[in-house]
Amino acid sequence: MLTDQFGRIHNYLRISLTDNCNLRCFYCMPEENYDFTPHSKLMQVDEIDMLAKLFVKNGVNKIRLTGGEPFVRKDAAKIITNLAKLPVQLSCTTNGIRIDDLLPEIIQSNFHSINISLDTLQKDRFQKITRRDYFDRVMRNINLLLEKNIKTKINVVLMKGINDDEICDFIAFTKTQLLEVRFIEFMPFSGNRWSSNQVMTQKEILEIIREKYNFKPLPMGIHDTAKNFSIEGHQGSFSIISTMSEPFCSGCNRIRLTADGRLKNCLFSKKETDLLTPFREGQDIVPIIESAIWSKAKTQGGQLNEKFEKINASIIQN
Ligand code: GTP
Ligand code: 5AD
Ligand code: SF4
Repeated sequence: MLTDQFGRIHNYLRISLTDNCNLRCFYCMPEENYDFTPHSKLMQVDEIDMLAKLFVKNGVNKIRLTGGEPFVRKDAAKIITNLAKLPVQLSCTTNGIRIDDLLPEIIQSNFHSINISLDTLQKDRFQKITRRDYFDRVMRNINLLLEKNIKTKINVVLMKGINDDEICDFIAFTKTQLLEVRFIEFMPFSGNRWSSNQVMTQKEILEIIREKYNFKPLPMGIHDTAKNFSIEGHQGSFSIISTMSEPFCSGCNRIRLTADGRLKNCLFSKKETDLLTPFREGQDIVPIIESAIWSKAKTQGGQLNEKFEKINASIIQN
């Protein structure tokens, strides 16, 4: 078991398949000339499979594929098919553009849930935020997932002055759709133009929803990042991820593998431990993993205060 010095057991591995993406959300990536990791430096299909097996042997039972955008990798179908054979709950976080291309593999791989990043329900605003024109395709793909009864969550990063006027539109969307809309407090990452006065806090979000809707909290697991609420008369539900105003580090069970095979023990950790190089050299990397996890900080999550203005975490590999 992968345990840290505070007794937290790490059974949830997030594997980034690539830092590349087919969108260019203004808060995440520059418009052009981003220096993506070359394919040869990425973990290859077999390496992902072997590393995942190693983590499973050491107690991991939940794997989430992330990016960048995980499904821009041409070999994504093969990677999914391999991981689906492991005794894990497999899920992914995607912008939803390539769901239609990968639907057969997604269905066969029995995904536990698919989290779609979608910050607006307005086509022109989608274009402004992402600098690309894929809104209709993403919406079609969300419907496709719902038709196939695949558990779907929508991740909405709320930013004041950008999309905070859409909170109730997203709630209205859950009236007839059996999905979970998750409002996420905007977090700082280097170069993402974050400022504390753009963050919509959990408290502010709940106040806005309360003006129009009756809702009540649903039970929450100790490892959950999202507080879930049911809404009277709605098939779907909404959640809030309060990374900034009310961090949830005490129940953290997450570790991350970057696309080039580095272990991060926390989303905000600047330290990355190279696993791929020693793995390629044939070394036993289990002690390296154990020591990286053992040294995890108690909390690096984001109290919403001045200290956070100075945080300069590495560019996002969710
Ligand atoms: P579920 O397993 O479905 O609950 O997904 P998730 O919330 O773990 O993953 P997802 O990729 O959908 O992430 C949504 C948001 O959760 C991110 O934007 C972050 O705000 C937050 N989040 C995910 N992982 C971490 C983490 O390790 N630490 C912190 N502080 N926030 C996280
Ligand atoms: N703050 C909060 N969430 C973010 N995401 C990307 N950048 C940020 C940020 N600065 C979200 C994406 C995705 C999830 C993994 O993280 O929208 O859904
Ligand atoms: Fe891509 Fe996600 Fe960044 Fe948007 S937020 S550009 S979907 S990695």
